[in-house]
Amino acid sequence: MALIDREASEKLLNEFIEGESLLNHSMMVAKAMEAYARSLNKDDQQVEEWWAAGMLHDLDWEKFPDDHPHKAVNEILPEYDYPESVIQAIKAHAPERTGKVPETEIERYLFACDELSGFMNAVSLMRPNGFEDMKVKSVAKKLKDVRFAANVPRDDIRRGAELIGKELNEHIAFMISIFRS
Ligand SMILES: [Fe+2]
Ligand SMILES: [Fe+2]
Repeated sequence: MALIDREASEKLLNEFIEGESLLNHSMMVAKAMEAYARSLNKDDQQVEEWWAAGMLHDLDWEKFPDDHPHKAVNEILPEYDYPESVIQAIKAHAPERTGKVPETEIERYLFACDELSGFMNAVSLMRPNGFEDMKVKSVAKKLKDVRFAANVPRDDIRRGAELIGKELNEHIAFMISIFRS
């Protein structure tokens, strides 16, 4: 199968999402997924799949919030020939909506990167230098502050780290290094 065309994926994303913060979130999760795929020595095809899963996981969120991610998984993505692994990973990033829990590696990593990326973005916005001098400790402290980014489910963040077999702090440290670059 041909490598997924990033340009086409970005075009698709821009057709469905206008909001800057959701576009930024999509790019952050794509970046994290690509970095993890490379750190796990995935081949080029898989790296592209991991990137696409991150980039497109919230594709239908803005236009079809009540039908997220069903609309993307069942209607939009199959039309564009995305591999089943990408579609299944997107389905599994929202198990409470789809009933599909993350099992395969790409599914588990997407789940682990999604909410933590959102949370870390919120932390970065509070800091004069963003990710530049962010410490694991400052992220961990904010996680304990229930009033900070209260809409981000802490349980999902903890569960994500468990799903990829990492200490949460190790996962946060990896993500800081990615978002800093
Ligand atoms: Fe989502
Ligand atoms: Fe997301």
